[in-house]
Amino acid sequence: MAKHTIVTMPGDGIGNQVLPEAVRVLEAAGFDADYIHADIGWECWRREGNALPERTLTLLQQHKIGLFGAITSKPKREAEAELSPALQGKGYQYFSPIVAMRQRFNLDICMRPCLSFPGNPLNFVRKKPSGGFEEPKVDVVVFRQNTEGLYAGVEWSNPPQQVREALRSHPKFKPFDDVPGADLAVSVRIITRPAARRICEAAFRHARQFRYKSVTICEKPNVLRETSGLMEEVAKEVQKRYPEIPLWSTNIDAQTMWLTKNPEDYGVIVASNLFGDVISDAFAGLVGGLGFAASGNIGAEVAVFEPTHGSAPKYAELDPPIVNPIAMILSAAMMLDHLGEREKAGRIRDAIAAVVAEGKVRTYDMLRMAGGAQALRQGAASTTQMTDAIIAKLEVGAEKAYAGSRRN
Ligand code: NAI
Ligand code: MG
Repeated sequence: MAKHTIVTMPGDGIGNQVLPEAVRVLEAAGFDADYIHADIGWECWRREGNALPERTLTLLQQHKIGLFGAITSKPKREAEAELSPALQGKGYQYFSPIVAMRQRFNLDICMRPCLSFPGNPLNFVRKKPSGGFEEPKVDVVVFRQNTEGLYAGVEWSNPPQQVREALRSHPKFKPFDDVPGADLAVSVRIITRPAARRICEAAFRHARQFRYKSVTICEKPNVLRETSGLMEEVAKEVQKRYPEIPLWSTNIDAQTMWLTKNPEDYGVIVASNLFGDVISDAFAGLVGGLGFAASGNIGAEVAVFEPTHGSAPKYAELDPPIVNPIAMILSAAMMLDHLGEREKAGRIRDAIAAVVAEGKVRTYDMLRMAGGAQALRQGAASTTQMTDAIIAKLEVGAEKAYAGSRRN
């Protein structure tokens, strides 16, 4: 029996193209695992009225580790219209399977590394005062609280009477008191101390383990005094157990400005759900964007690794596929780190770095081309060619290691 069992959830669209490529790379790296397919996403919804079937949850509960591609989701009316005719009008409600998975297994730590690979034409460059350009190395890991904050889902359009009454008990609600229900929408930002502590702990632990020079808490405590205030308070408390790592504090708005000014100064960043979502996408934009953005959703028991991109439906039917598999492959490498297979994860990242540095094999996004079948005729590599190139570098790496071991 293999050492690990991985639940693979390709989902919809290009999820089906990139996930098998990541498995090919894992196998080439010598990762010993069995893979069990599980259904998730829009096609599931259409067939069964449930985008996250119970059988998928059971598999995750049983095997603990998931690799996830991407899903398609659409607004309410389309969700109802695309449901199989036999299921329509029976009260089925679409919900995001990703959010549901995070909540069900309390995957409250979202980790999003943003690392620039030298030679990537999409890397951020900056003009030097003396003329010319420089390319600062970006190596940031965002720790985003994944289950609470403004994404907790506690929200209303036309809030019920008791909610209005509760809101009225706050003096700052006065200016909104006369707003008719139909014109009022409210989303609640919830932060709890235990979850804040867990995300801050995870951030500091990571900074210590991988020798990042600082942890930055990125919130807005001067305005969101209660919720951001609690995040900051907890971050300060956790920092006391990590005296060698300074805690910096930035406001989300200012941080997005500093992003392009001095991105190389930041190491680990920790934030609540929405701000973490924003700042991780912003940093990802400096290191290649969606084709490079990997993530892990980590709970005490279960963990699921996924690229941050979606199902890119407009490219899903292309054969051969053109999208960049690197974000998915980097997500698989994060999974290896999580499983303690650090050496294999490192070799995969080295192989990606070597392909990017060489610059011979580049998918359409890396060439800043318009997507579509024509991209391949214009010199872009296909999804498969990119994976093949990475696997070839893995093999070269393995040969070098072998030759090295014979010399010793
Ligand atoms: P998207 O991430 O699917 O695609 C946006 C654009 O980014 C694509 O058209 C393509 O140009 C580019 N892109 C994405 N992945 C790429 C890759 N691996 N290589 C090269 N280029 C890539 O986001 P979009 O178009 O907003 O949403 C499409 C569907 O995906 C929607 O139904 C949306 O709800 C869903 N979605 C799912 C996510 C998930 O599964 N985690 C996240 C974001 C969107
Ligand atoms: Mg996002």
